[in-house]
Amino acid sequence: MRILAIETSCDDTGIAILEENKGAFKVLTNIVSSQTIHQNYGGVFPMMAKREHQKNLVPVLVSALGEAKLVETKPQELDDKQHKHLTQILEREQELLSQLVEFLQTHKKPDIDAIAVTYGPGLEPCLWVGVNFARALSYAWNLPLIPVNHIEAHILVNFLQNKEIYPVKSAKSGAAPEAQQFNRVKFPALSLVVSGGHTQLILVKGVGKYKIIGETRDDAAGECFDKCAKLLGLGYPGGSIISKIALEVTESPVHLPRPMFNTKDYDFSFSGLKTAVLHETQGKEITPEYVKEVSYEVQQAIIDVLLKKTLQAAADFKAKTIILGGGVSANQELRKQFAAHAQVPVIFPEPKLSTDNALMIAVTAALRPKKKRWQSLKANANLRVGK
Ligand code: KG4
Ligand code: ZN
Repeated sequence: MRILAIETSCDDTGIAILEENKGAFKVLTNIVSSQTIHQNYGGVFPMMAKREHQKNLVPVLVSALGEAKLVETKPQELDDKQHKHLTQILEREQELLSQLVEFLQTHKKPDIDAIAVTYGPGLEPCLWVGVNFARALSYAWNLPLIPVNHIEAHILVNFLQNKEIYPVKSAKSGAAPEAQQFNRVKFPALSLVVSGGHTQLILVKGVGKYKIIGETRDDAAGECFDKCAKLLGLGYPGGSIISKIALEVTESPVHLPRPMFNTKDYDFSFSGLKTAVLHETQGKEITPEYVKEVSYEVQQAIIDVLLKKTLQAAADFKAKTIILGGGVSANQELRKQFAAHAQVPVIFPEPKLSTDNALMIAVTAALRPKKKRWQSLKANANLRVGK
């Protein structure tokens, strides 16, 4: 099965094409167009991001099909009924509609078997552009539509190893195919999904079997990185910038709190850390050296709480694997410290698959191919796993 997947839940426009054959994956393309417009504002404005997705989607689709060698030009007219449906589906995305109609009138249907799309959680206007684009393609090409939960995708992208997973032959014949196929992950597993919008600890009893056991009560860890970076006069997204700057020192005289470090639950809180950085920096001269020291301490404070709560939860739930996912899991220092302290194997995606991308959506669709009709799919900004 060949899946074309679309991701637009925040500020990255992504399209990937994945081929799945008896449990083995082959990545044909994975294009992420990161919107640079938000760098000037230190955060993402949903309506601005939606406009950028509208502009980007067809060009990214053309590049993806080109890279996968699935593009074939052929002039063809759309009939009145097709025009009517497409206009209905993309009623609120006029710019996208005209680009898509032009594309469909000049290109043959590619050799694809299904369309997958993120339908939540995320920024509502952004999710809707992707969902409506996917609905339009599903209608135009008469293909099934697979809705994907973005958080589940941050977890399941870990089942894609070096572009391909080869089912491992089990010594015991008759072992469950799941156990053979996902040999890197042993269940129950514990997943920490840390991104710009979420910080959740999720107990993973199997593919599709999730329970959220803890989460942030206010800001997400990535959001905290971004807000602290803004206070330090650094750019957006702040996480990767802070992590680079933090590398330049090996200790820091600055001390910041570790919120909720000693609570007995598996929840987090990061808004106090941002406020502490605000107080710490007020009235100080922000020299390059000072920025390095604060960056180092912000990163370590975030890692300390994530690590403590994750290891505690892993021990309490007897997890056999720890799975990291989400943009913050691209952080090298976090990876290093998790790997050094955990009692069980820690698995994380390669950095470019930690941050938002459509390949994770394709992998999830391949592992969990629940289909919907284009008529009935809706975006759900507050979607949760395990419901
Ligand atoms: O998963 P993601 O790409 O988008 C959401 O679903 O939110 O995560 C984006 C977040 C941003 O807050 C960004 O600052 C953070 O991930 N991030 C990092 C790093 N790279 C991205 N945080 C810490 N260290 C990094 N290297
Ligand atoms: Zn994400």
